Amino acid sequence: MQNRMSIRKLCDLCKVQSALVGVVACVVAAGCERAEPIRFTPSESVTELNSDLQQEISDYLQANNGTPSSPKLMGDESAETSHLLHGQAVYMKRCQQCHGVSGDGKGPMADSMYPRPRDYRRGIYKFTTTPYGSKPRREDLVRTVYRGVPGTSMPSFDRLTKRDLNAVVDYVLVLTHRGELEQQLAYEAELEEELDPEYVQEYIDGIIGDWHRAKFDKVQPLTPMPEFTAENVLAGRQAFLTKGCSKCHGEDGRGHTRDNIGKDSWGFATRAADLTSGMLRGGQGPEDVYQRIVSGINGTPMPGFRNALSEEPDTIWNLVAYVLYVSNRRRNGHVPPAGLMKPYDDVSASAAAE
Ligand code: HEC
Ligand code: HEC
Repeated sequence: MQNRMSIRKLCDLCKVQSALVGVVACVVAAGCERAEPIRFTPSESVTELNSDLQQEISDYLQANNGTPSSPKLMGDESAETSHLLHGQAVYMKRCQQCHGVSGDGKGPMADSMYPRPRDYRRGIYKFTTTPYGSKPRREDLVRTVYRGVPGTSMPSFDRLTKRDLNAVVDYVLVLTHRGELEQQLAYEAELEEELDPEYVQEYIDGIIGDWHRAKFDKVQPLTPMPEFTAENVLAGRQAFLTKGCSKCHGEDGRGHTRDNIGKDSWGFATRAADLTSGMLRGGQGPEDVYQRIVSGINGTPMPGFRNALSEEPDTIWNLVAYVLYVSNRRRNGHVPPAGLMKPYDDVSASAAAE
């Protein structure tokens, strides 16, 4: 409240001042541009429906996820409106440029980015501590926002206060659940040409249930982390070459292979990580890398190796040792040769021959 008052006062002040100083300075100084009302844009799958169905979906979303001026966190009755509105203020200031006002990943800055800012509405998150295909735990989102995604445009927000960080994550969850429900209702409406309230309730319970289960589904390492030695690295290299990793990541880990193309769940082109870049997106700690190998990366071609390697838990740690070795090579002074790597040469040579 304090904040809103002072912004309003500043805005009033600006009006008086703007005659003297100029409008541009005023808008920058006081953030008056935030006075523009926030609107959620319906997704493409909704705008394709007839207007009655669109209205019905809008009513369900309003009842379960609230409105921009009174957001609701589905599945958590205890989340207060003032807390969520605080999260919204942080979001509008620091996140919507990339992630979009409605969380559709289509903010004004998004087009030039690879990877693209996350479209929250699918409810799919990459850097989780839960099994492949599961929702993230709330802590996973807090951690990602806090430390950012190194090597991508997603900045670190480690200077936000705890209150800001928690509130903005809860607001991301509001947008996520709203998007998930919208998607499922649009799907149902298109299929059945009507919305049966019983089914709608099932969808809602399903979304809440999936997120709730993830809370208790943290993946724990099968064996404790060993002290890494050169032997672990060598064994890890061997596994990297024989367990299928090099097919996508290349023998040298740089991801320059012929097979390294695909689309992610959001429909955008993606490629295997360059493990030598020194910037692991999911985190540089051994536990982070362990998690990526065991649980994979949701929404991307990176599979989880939990089943494939459950009989040989040591191999997982060896792979971690190797990935970290490869990732830290540049830091340790090994500069890879300039120019394109071999597989790229091959690709361009064969393309030229065609
Ligand atoms: C400059 C652009 C930019 C800004 C600003 C930005 N993000 Fe992101 N964000 C990204 C990109 C790009 C990704 C995708 C990274 C990837 O796929 O590896 C992302 C991913 C995410 C993810 C998904 C992580 C996962 O595990 O899948 C969350 C959550 C997120 N951002 C939250 C936020 C929040 C909250 C803010 C504001 C406090 C914010 N972002 C501000 C660009 C941005
Ligand atoms: C089918 C292709 C494919 C295979 C096989 C594969 N990966 Fe990946 N991997 C990817 C893709 C794609 C990404 C990047 C996903 C993203 O961040 O969008 C990735 C990302 C990673 C990351 C995360 C890097 C980071 O920036 O945090 C690690 C670690 C990794 N892979 C290790 C492995 C290991 C070890 C194996 C073998 C056991 C393996 N991968 C097998 C496609 C693959």
